[in-house]
Amino acid sequence: MVLAASFLASLLLLAAAKPMDKRAMAVHESRTEPARGFFKSSVAPAEKELTLRIALKPNDIAGLETALYQVSDPASDLYGQHLTPEEVAAFVKPTDDSLAAVSEWLSENGISSKPVTPAGDMLQITIPVSQANELLSAEFSVFMHVETGSTSIRTLEYSIPASLQPHIDFFHPTLSFTRPLSSIPKFAAIRPQPAKTPAITPDATPVSDAVPASCATAVTPACLQSFYNIPTTPATQTSNKLGVSGFILVFDFQQWANSLDLKQFLTSLRPDISSSTTFTLQTLDGGVNTQTRSQAGVEANLDVQYTIGVATGVPVTFISVGENGSDGLDGFLDIITTLINESAATRPSVLTTSYGFDESDLTRSVANTLCNAYMQLGALGTSLIFSSGDGGVSGSQSQTCTNFIPTLPSDCPFVTSVGSVGGITEVGSSFSSGGFSNYFGIPSYQSADVASYISAIGTTNNGKYNKTGRGFPDVAVQGESFEIAWDAQFGLVDGTSCSAPSFASIISLLNDQLVAAGKPVLGFLNPFLYSATGRAAFNDITSGTNPGCSTNGFSARAGWDPITGLGTPNFTKLKAAVGL
Ligand SMILES: *[C@@H]1O[C@H](CO)[C@@H](O)[C@H](O)[C@H]1NC(C)=O
Ligand SMILES: *[C@@H]1O[C@H](CO)[C@@H](O)[C@H](O)[C@H]1NC(C)=O
Ligand SMILES: *[C@@H]1O[C@H](CO)[C@@H](O)[C@H](O)[C@H]1NC(C)=O
Ligand SMILES: *[C@@H]1O[C@H](CO)[C@@H](O)[C@H](O)[C@H]1NC(C)=O
Repeated sequence: MVLAASFLASLLLLAAAKPMDKRAMAVHESRTEPARGFFKSSVAPAEKELTLRIALKPNDIAGLETALYQVSDPASDLYGQHLTPEEVAAFVKPTDDSLAAVSEWLSENGISSKPVTPAGDMLQITIPVSQANELLSAEFSVFMHVETGSTSIRTLEYSIPASLQPHIDFFHPTLSFTRPLSSIPKFAAIRPQPAKTPAITPDATPVSDAVPASCATAVTPACLQSFYNIPTTPATQTSNKLGVSGFILVFDFQQWANSLDLKQFLTSLRPDISSSTTFTLQTLDGGVNTQTRSQAGVEANLDVQYTIGVATGVPVTFISVGENGSDGLDGFLDIITTLINESAATRPSVLTTSYGFDESDLTRSVANTLCNAYMQLGALGTSLIFSSGDGGVSGSQSQTCTNFIPTLPSDCPFVTSVGSVGGITEVGSSFSSGGFSNYFGIPSYQSADVASYISAIGTTNNGKYNKTGRGFPDVAVQGESFEIAWDAQFGLVDGTSCSAPSFASIISLLNDQLVAAGKPVLGFLNPFLYSATGRAAFNDITSGTNPGCSTNGFSARAGWDPITGLGTPNFTKLKAAVGL
C-alpha cells in the first residue's frame, strides 16, 4: 500500500510538470471473469449509447460516519439529533479540486456530465461504446445471463488517468453484474393453504403471555401481536411514515401491491381496524402499481399486508421502483438518492426492504458506495431494515457453494438485518441467512458479540467465512408460514421477507409513541440495539441452524449469533428501553 501511494505521488508530479502530455492511464478496477451465471457473448456495438455514472470521492465520509454514530448512540450527548440534508451533503460532496479535475478531463474529451445525487458526488454521462472504450481503455462487451438470456454491457477492466485516481471512486456499471431482476431473490413463495386452516380471530384485547396454538401453523398479525406484545391501538402521529420498497421483477410476477388483496386481508385478519386502510403510492424510475388482481406480487402483497396489518395506524408508503433507472443496481441506489433528497415531512422514518443481492455480485467499491448511501439516510434519521436472505449460509437463496456467501445490503454496517425464527417456542429458521461480510469490517457496536461467537464455535466452518467481517443478522422475527392474501386467495409464505416488514412495523410503532412524547425518532438502530439496554429488550434465541454450502451452517447459541442475531423483540421492553 505504501509503495503504491508514493508511486502515485510521483505520477502526479509528472502530470503537473507536463500538462500537455497525453494523460498517463492506470488500471482502476479489473476482474478476471464475469460474475457466475454470466458469459461474454459478443463485443458491444460501437455506436450503442452507454449511460455511465462516475462516483467521485466524498470529501469526508469518515466525518459522516462519526456524525452518524454520535446521533445514533444512546450514550452520546447528540443522540437523536439527526442531521439535515445540507449537513449530510457537506460531508459527501466532492472537493472543488475533484470536481475541477474530472470536469476538465471530461471536457477535453467533449463529454458533458450532470450530477445525479443531491450532494453532486455522482455524475452521469452518456457516450457511445466506442468512446467509452477509448476514454477508459476498456473493452465493453455484451454479457449474457445464462438462466434468463438477458444481456448487459459490461467490461472486465477499465483505466482512468492516474492523476484522477485520488478523485474518482469508480465508473459504473462496469464490473458489477447484478443478476437480472427475476433472480433478485424473492424471499417468499406462495404455497397452497393447508386443507383445513385453523380459524384465527385476532386478539382485540391486549396480549396475554400465551400465544394461540394456531400460530404454530399460520402466523397472522394477531400472532405477531401476541408473540411480541405489539399493541393493537392505532398510532396517532401522521408525520411518522413507514416506507416499503417495491422492486419490479421483470421475468416473474410483477411486484405490484394489490389494494383488493389488502382489503381482503384486513377484513379477515384485522377486523378491529378499517378494511379500507391502505398505502400511499410513490414511484420512481418509471415505477407503476398496476391493480390487475392476477398480477399482484407475492412479495409486494406480503410487505404491505404485514406493515399496514401490524403497524396499526402508521401511514405506509409503497415505493415502486421501475426499470427505467440507470443506477446499474436495479434501482437500489436510486430509491435511496430519492429519499435523501426528500423533505423531512415526506421522508419515511423507517424503510423496509425484502430484496437483496449476494455480496459477490457487486464489486467492493460499488457495495461501499451503496452502503455509504444508507449511512446518509441513517444520519437523516431513517431506520433501514433489510431481510437477511433465505439461503442459510449460501446467501440470498439455496445454491451450491464452497465458501459461505454473505448477502447485501443486509451486511452493510449501517442497516439493520432481520433473520427469521419459527415455532411457538422460537427456533432459528433453517433458511435464515447469516454470517460475516467479506467487504465490511466488524463495526464497534458488535465487536464483542462477534468475537465471542467466533471463539465459542472454535474451528467449526473454519476457512468458509471471514472472521473479521461484519456479522449479520442483527435481530430476528417470525418468518415461517405467514398468512397472506394474494390474487383473492389466502396462502402461506416463508422467508426473511416476512420478518423484515414485521420488525419495521414494531420500530414504526415505537417511533409513533416517541413522536407523541415529543422525542426524536430512532434513526439508525444498531448502536441502540446492541447496547446493554437495547439487547435486554430481546428474547435470546439459542437453537436452530442455517445449513448451506454442504455444511450444517452456523448454530444459534446464547448471545448474538449469525442466524437470529440478538433474538426476537419484546415491544413492552423496547418501550422501556427507548425511555417511554
Ligand atoms: C431533488 O429534488 C428537487 C426538487 O425537490 C429536484 O429538482 C432535484 O432534481 C432533485 N435532485 C436529485 C438529485 O434527485
Ligand atoms: C420505461 O422505458 C420504456 C422503454 O424505454 C418505455 O417504453 C416506458 O414508457 C418507460 N416507462 C415510464 C413510466 O417512463
Ligand atoms: C475479510 O473481511 C475483511 C474486512 O472487511 C476484508 O478486508 C478482507 O478482504 C476479507 N477477506 C476476504 C478473503 O474476503
Ligand atoms: C415481554 O416483556 C414483558 C415485560 O417485561 C413481560 O411481562 C413479558 O412476559 C415478555 N414477553 C415475552 C414473550 O418475553
